[in-house]
Amino acid sequence: MRIIEAANYEDLSRKAADLIAAQVILKPDCVLGLATGSTPEGTYKELVTRYEQGVLDFSQISSVNLDEYRGLSQDNDQSYRYFMNRHLFDHVNIDKARTHVPNGKEPDSDKACADYDAQILSMGGVDLQLLGIGGNGHIGFNEPCDEFVVGTHCVNLTQSTIEANARFFSSIDEVPKQAYTMGIGNIMAAKKILLLASGAGKSQAIFDTCFGPVTPHVPASVLQLHPDAVIIADTEALSLAKEKGVF
Ligand code: PGA
Repeated sequence: MRIIEAANYEDLSRKAADLIAAQVILKPDCVLGLATGSTPEGTYKELVTRYEQGVLDFSQISSVNLDEYRGLSQDNDQSYRYFMNRHLFDHVNIDKARTHVPNGKEPDSDKACADYDAQILSMGGVDLQLLGIGGNGHIGFNEPCDEFVVGTHCVNLTQSTIEANARFFSSIDEVPKQAYTMGIGNIMAAKKILLLASGAGKSQAIFDTCFGPVTPHVPASVLQLHPDAVIIADTEALSLAKEKGVF
């Protein structure tokens, strides 16, 4: 696990875009694993700028997203498909037919999850997986629990995640209570992993992830076992690790 300190959110976004750009340049037909949430928004903005400058070409890229709310359709403005279109896909030359997000409208959760695992497999796996991290250490919607789940699965969101996501909805009652998410096995199978963390609210999660024991109670801690995981965290997100003298 390599930890890169960024001075602030803008610096973090630039550094993350640099690493994704390098991946796209090195392998123009690569599979990108993408993430939603507020953290990667700046990274996507940087990637769009580089596309507009003619530096990046997404025409051969495929993508798979980590997760989707169960029950939301693609055109619901809180769905993760909608988020991806708004922040990235609508602004670059990616072929949307090659972009994949779990099907939130599939009511049969076993089918939705099996279909998504099969989709990832048929694409040959993920070359670079981008991740955010929850304040509780979750990745995708893999919430703290007693054991790591391998494949795509349906999860009940924890109260803290529902509360954290309520800011995007008009009321907390509208936040979906379940989601389909890639499992820890899907994430760990990616060739490279890039996790982003910004702000003091993530400092406990970053400390536990990077310097604590590997445990499903801090899902991101499993990344300590990945051969090519990079964490880009800004100074605030690293504040607890610094205070404790481990970084
Ligand atoms: P955030 O969410 O980027 O909005 O903080 C990250 C996550 O919950 O994975």
